[in-house]
Amino acid sequence: MQRSPTQEESQRDQLHGRQVAAMFGRIARWYDFLNHTLSLGLDIYWRWRLARVALPKPGGVVLDLAAGTLDVSLALLRQYPNIRVAAVDYTLPMLARGKLKLTGGLEERILPAQGDGRLLPLPDESMDAATIAFGIRNIRPRMAAHKEVLRCLKPGGRFCILEFGTGRRKVWGGLYNFYLDKVLPGVGRLFSGDRAAYRYLAETIREFPDERQLSRELMDAGYARVFHVAMLSGIVYLHVAEKMGPEQPKRERQERDAAPLGEPPLRCFTPLDPGLAPHAEPGDEEESGR
Ligand SMILES: C[S@@+](CC[C@H](N)C(=O)[O-])C[C@H]1O[C@@H](n2cnc3c(N)ncnc32)[C@H](O)[C@@H]1O
Repeated sequence: MQRSPTQEESQRDQLHGRQVAAMFGRIARWYDFLNHTLSLGLDIYWRWRLARVALPKPGGVVLDLAAGTLDVSLALLRQYPNIRVAAVDYTLPMLARGKLKLTGGLEERILPAQGDGRLLPLPDESMDAATIAFGIRNIRPRMAAHKEVLRCLKPGGRFCILEFGTGRRKVWGGLYNFYLDKVLPGVGRLFSGDRAAYRYLAETIREFPDERQLSRELMDAGYARVFHVAMLSGIVYLHVAEKMGPEQPKRERQERDAAPLGEPPLRCFTPLDPGLAPHAEPGDEEESGR
């Protein structure tokens, strides 16, 4: 059973939220350029993968939480041209940068709005799917966002999370960890003049729970099924949490049919699966396989 946060914890989380918003406000101008540069362009592929698993119904509405400069919203629209996207973010300057990309009718399909993932300005069961890319790490407490998204999703809707794996695990013989500790803050400072922001990025990646902990957290929040896929040796993970709904078996067939050749199948487990036990969880093979 989850305990309620103390007053002190709530105040700390509120302060953290304001600091995060101020920080993204400062780097908004540089955000896209540094994103693409620091990931060598891979972030474009990762967002494409995120959009691909969202599977909203035709004409549906998707919540893009922590939408930032709207790259996920745009990736969603490229794959599902007739949906609409509610692009919610805490930081206005990020959304303002993103809004510059909304031309040629896109402004009628993507609706940016300032809002907090812990208290979404959306009605119950109004969204066909939800996405968040590199945002959940910034929200405290995460559980509040998991539950808010669940509330807003229609039955069977998916919450698709793109996030770095925990930086505590050594990847590529420690090369990635060196990159996080040294290269990221250095390059970040060079361009944006804000070393602290990019140090914060590295710190939050290190502190972030590993994929199994996050899966458990999502199940605790009330999602019916959760699965994850490791990308780039586990530097980045795609997590999908599904709200209980009537169409799950059909969805699994759709995913299998949609997966390009050679791509490992997506895995899933339910609260009844042994996969939730501390050892031998689904996802292990995926990680070691890549
Ligand atoms: C690393 S950026 C990710 C932006 C975008 N999703 C992308 O893929 O580039 C993280 C974003 O999370 C937003 N954010 C942080 N806390 C938030 C909250 N409580 N509610 C909504 N957005 C939040 C920040 O304003 C920032 O734009």
